Amino acid sequence: MSANTVLANAKDVDSYAVSHLIAIDKALTDTISNTAKNGAPPIAVSPTQGKFLSLLTRISGAQNVLEIGTLGGYSSIWFARSLKAGGKKGKVTSVEVLEDRRELAMQNLRNAGVKVPEEAEVLLGAGLEVLPRLLAEIEQGKRPKFDFIFIDADWENQWNYFDYGVKLSKGPGSVILIDNAVQKMLEDGIAGQGKRREDAISVVEKVGQDRRVEAVLLQTLGAKQHDGFLMALLV
Ligand SMILES: C[S@@+](CC[C@H](N)C(=O)[O-])C[C@H]1O[C@@H](n2cnc3c(N)ncnc32)[C@H](O)[C@@H]1O
Repeated sequence: MSANTVLANAKDVDSYAVSHLIAIDKALTDTISNTAKNGAPPIAVSPTQGKFLSLLTRISGAQNVLEIGTLGGYSSIWFARSLKAGGKKGKVTSVEVLEDRRELAMQNLRNAGVKVPEEAEVLLGAGLEVLPRLLAEIEQGKRPKFDFIFIDADWENQWNYFDYGVKLSKGPGSVILIDNAVQKMLEDGIAGQGKRREDAISVVEKVGQDRRVEAVLLQTLGAKQHDGFLMALLV
């Protein structure tokens, strides 16, 4: 079977599964169209991935979700709703470097019935500037630690965000998920046919050496291209 057929079949399977497993939700579809109207690229997680994230959040019993990379708030809405559905009193804290995207995300969250900032807050700034501030606030007892961390911003900093994620987490039982881990590996030539970039950092290798976590890489294929999540459990 050619690679094109595999991809076409994967898209077909994804649409079929979405039509049976994920209810049509105007707030979520509006979020996608508002984000496109704002000129932002179509790089939110897919509906299947959004539901997967929301179920994982509930399975893990997470109370406070940290997301790095908000875009228009699509995945933030999935997280906020899953906390509510699980009866959790915590919130989603999402970090976005672009001011117009932060505004858009807050508008989309409100349209989806999520209270901002009580149920979801969107912090403005580069991840590596905001995360140390969050750590200081946690150490000062001003905010709770996180138990679910979703890394979905600039790929160059995946490892830095992961390392911060461990420090910002509640510890054993907390979950860290890195999106686009497979695309980043392929882009850097860490696996696959491409030539390895000399300064490439393999987040898979770094996480594999990290005794604070147990981790796995799960490849995905569906509405989006071949990609995958790196998932780690704090131990
Ligand atoms: C893939 S999108 C996030 C998608 C979102 N999680 C979703 O699924 O709906 C990545 C976002 O990260 C933001 N970003 C890029 N570099 C960043 C940084 N250094 N700090 C924080 N956000 C950043 C981008 O502006 C973009 O909106």
